[in-house]
Amino acid sequence: MIKTSVKQEDVLRHKTDCLVIFCLEEAGLTGALKTIDQRLDGAVQAAFQAKRFEGKPNQTLLLNSRKALGADNVLLAGLGKKKELTPDRVCQASGTAAKLAEKNRFAKISYFVPGGLLPASALKGKKPGYDAGSAAAAEGALLALYHFDAYKSKENDEEPPRVREVGLVAEPKTAPASLRKAVERAQALAAAVCAARDLIAHPSNTATPRYLADHARRIARKHPLTCRVLGKNEMKKLGMGALLGVAQGSQEPPALIVLEYRGGRKTEPPVVIVGKGITFDTGGISLKPPANMDEMKMDMSGGGVTLGTLQAAAALKLPVNVIGLVPATENMPSGTAIKPGDVLKSMSGKTIEVLNTDAEGRLVLADALAYAARYKPQAVIDLATLTGAVVVALGHSAAAVLGNDETLVKKLITSGESTGERLWQLPLWEEHEKAMKSQLADLKNIAGPGVGAGTITGAAFLKAFAGDQPWAHLDIAGTAWGDEKPYVPKGPSGFGVRLLVDYLEHVAAGRKRKTRKK
Ligand code: BES
Ligand code: MN
Ligand code: ZN
Repeated sequence: MIKTSVKQEDVLRHKTDCLVIFCLEEAGLTGALKTIDQRLDGAVQAAFQAKRFEGKPNQTLLLNSRKALGADNVLLAGLGKKKELTPDRVCQASGTAAKLAEKNRFAKISYFVPGGLLPASALKGKKPGYDAGSAAAAEGALLALYHFDAYKSKENDEEPPRVREVGLVAEPKTAPASLRKAVERAQALAAAVCAARDLIAHPSNTATPRYLADHARRIARKHPLTCRVLGKNEMKKLGMGALLGVAQGSQEPPALIVLEYRGGRKTEPPVVIVGKGITFDTGGISLKPPANMDEMKMDMSGGGVTLGTLQAAAALKLPVNVIGLVPATENMPSGTAIKPGDVLKSMSGKTIEVLNTDAEGRLVLADALAYAARYKPQAVIDLATLTGAVVVALGHSAAAVLGNDETLVKKLITSGESTGERLWQLPLWEEHEKAMKSQLADLKNIAGPGVGAGTITGAAFLKAFAGDQPWAHLDIAGTAWGDEKPYVPKGPSGFGVRLLVDYLEHVAAGRKRKTRKK
């Protein structure tokens, strides 16, 4: 656990191994930077003049303070242009700085957060009850300093460098309560993202459906959440033939995890988040090729992110109602596995011709989306590592979003922009829905040859099961794993938790606005 601390004191005196000063591009030497430059005999100005440092996004400059400051070292961290500033830019700069500090074996890193580091113009209409600049600085650092070493035996290894403490140094004029809340928020959010990352990082022989269910029960004990886990028998009673169909090839029993957080008013319809929980995807009888099949332990990323989001919502006490649903199972080939051509009957009553057992995500989601309807939700959002095609379309720096409700999609895109978990909308047209009609059954789970648009046809299949619920689908196959951002170390990103928390905060704010009007 990394310790966090907040101090409101003279930044020149603050004791730390490494003091981070955020710098905007084209802003010149102002405020604290000016005095620090004087103490360092013009070293900062010299760096600017020689263009060794210009404040560009994620640029850094490490200077030894030669005892002229309380801090041993000063680390300048670039934020880019003021008019392009977002909370994510601050997160990125702070994450970049944290990783550099760790490489330099600094045990304590402190961020100077001047008042208004993130002005209202950078917050897209959000009015947080915390100091947004401090929250983003701490969040970026805690996320960047994540490590997963559950499977490393310590014995022979040299102790790797680790930052132990992240400090914030704020000006006296910043309200102490808003600082405290900022740090609490950053901690809760980072803990939730890192919990999701852990789940995703664990290999499938640890992270089984049962493991995910136990984890969900654990968060429900720690936070104001209730957890229920439906097993095979309950699934049978509900007629979840699609989820059961995928599970029937595996020795591991499936689980439908239900986490409920009731932070809003009783009468308010919840937001339902559905996460694909395939703990390993071999492809089933339509077996995947061996190269890189190991990566398919991350096929429960949507599920991990769903559990992380529920954890965050509860820890942050967001005034909204949220339900998390994770249909969890392995996708295995075996003598009991479903075979190409088999027909499954889903909970919705719709029948599905399974033409490719490797298109299993949409099958488990079909039943979870149908189950979501019982909550009469104001919105259903599913997250899934659904298609390799989304990597072709968008690469690793944006997830695809598709849905049946433009307002919902737009809101999610906005949350993506401010959190840096970017979404790009793909169309979902009648042609695509037609392509999923089966001759034999109601639907088939893959489109015919020559249709293409794999991410869209996957979503078109899901749409049939979302019914008339306002629904959006995030295909996170390209973004769930990778170190595209400075605050994402190599491995699982936890992509989606910060995005959904931001979305839920907007839902809460919107509701408050409505009540005030009455
Ligand atoms: N889990 C995979 C998708 C995936 C691919 C996730 C790469 C992460 C990285 C999914 O279940 C799958 O196999 N999809 C198929 C669908 C096809 C059979 C229609 C795919 O993308 O090839
Ligand atoms: Mn698959
Ligand atoms: Zn899959």
